Amino acid sequence: MYYNYMAYIAVHHQEKCKRCGVCVEIVDCPGSAKEICLGCGACVLACPNEAMELVESPREKEVTIEVDGMFAQVPEQISVKDALIGLGYQINALPSESPGGIFAPCDVGGCWSCAMEINGIVKPACRTEVKNGMKIRVEPPKEYIPRRIVEGFLGHPVGGVGTPWRVKGDGTSLVEAACFATGCNFRCPQCQNWILTYKGSGDPLTPGKAAEKLTSTRRELGVNRLLISGGECTLNRPWLVQFIKELRVLNPDKDAHFHVDTNGSLLTHDYIDELVDAGMTDIGIDLKALETSTFMLITGLKDRELAEKYKEIAWEAVYYLAHNYSDKVFVGVGIPYNRALNSITEITHIAARICEIDPFIQVTALNYGPAFRSHITRPEDKEMEAVRTILKGTGLKVVLSQTTQGYVGP
Ligand code: FES
Repeated sequence: MYYNYMAYIAVHHQEKCKRCGVCVEIVDCPGSAKEICLGCGACVLACPNEAMELVESPREKEVTIEVDGMFAQVPEQISVKDALIGLGYQINALPSESPGGIFAPCDVGGCWSCAMEINGIVKPACRTEVKNGMKIRVEPPKEYIPRRIVEGFLGHPVGGVGTPWRVKGDGTSLVEAACFATGCNFRCPQCQNWILTYKGSGDPLTPGKAAEKLTSTRRELGVNRLLISGGECTLNRPWLVQFIKELRVLNPDKDAHFHVDTNGSLLTHDYIDELVDAGMTDIGIDLKALETSTFMLITGLKDRELAEKYKEIAWEAVYYLAHNYSDKVFVGVGIPYNRALNSITEITHIAARICEIDPFIQVTALNYGPAFRSHITRPEDKEMEAVRTILKGTGLKVVLSQTTQGYVGP
């Protein structure tokens, strides 16, 4: 097989490093045991101080691997994913985009979307080093039960964007049992949950195990709502669909609500249909933006075409849910606000477009503030209240504003 590749290593810029330990404790470095760098880039993505950089570094030796029965020479000390890219395998932007392609959206080892059979064991391709004589089957075996890293399993006060305002409470009591799937396909500089987003270490859970843990959290807390958020919980589609199914089996009572909070970027119609069939009852979609340039600024995505695709899928998901499942699924939408990232004009246009879809969709204006790599100033509470008034002026019936004191509205 012919290959064409660039190999990299991560370089540590000492002058930027603040010794926070993220590149050791959060990142599951696949080369650390041998003190080598595979150039996978996980530490580059996760370092809040941007002290890590990938630079080209050709490898001296090659190894022979077998991929779906074909033999190939590839550079040593690179990831299986990079070896496959070099061999011409397509990287898909969506889980179901093209058969035979690889969906590897998080690149930190959290989502296990890139899991494949490697020497008889299913492992994520982005975290596994190529070795001489390695046998790879790109499709996991039929009997494989999907897994991914999920954290949390704790009580969540007020809930997320997809929590109806009537049950949000005042933040003093827990309203949901929550878990968080690690890994994300966005690179938001102001990510609020970035430790989870870039976490690749930990034991991956099957949907059944995660559903058991979340159900037991529900019982301990005495709440009726079960939330999965992230990171981005929709990345590993078979996992999420099965997780919701298992949750429903374990929580058959009519009071149980199954809530998914997501950026919506992967929620094609067929994916939504699957989630609703599985039992999802509530969904929160953080829309990020209407303009592609704003969407790229907020999400940190550099590929304009991909950003445009993700943005349109998320908007279409809101439309599709509102027009096909309004009797079955509660839909909440988040709109980020910070004058360093977007404008009142743009969020007014977002609100007007949601209003055209359905003025009764619950909209939450989110007070984006400093986090991860961003040093933006959080909007003052009175600014968020003014934003709420402006959004309501577009005709929306249910508008909440996130403030430092909790949610205001509707
Ligand atoms: S892309 Fe490999 S685990 Fe997420």
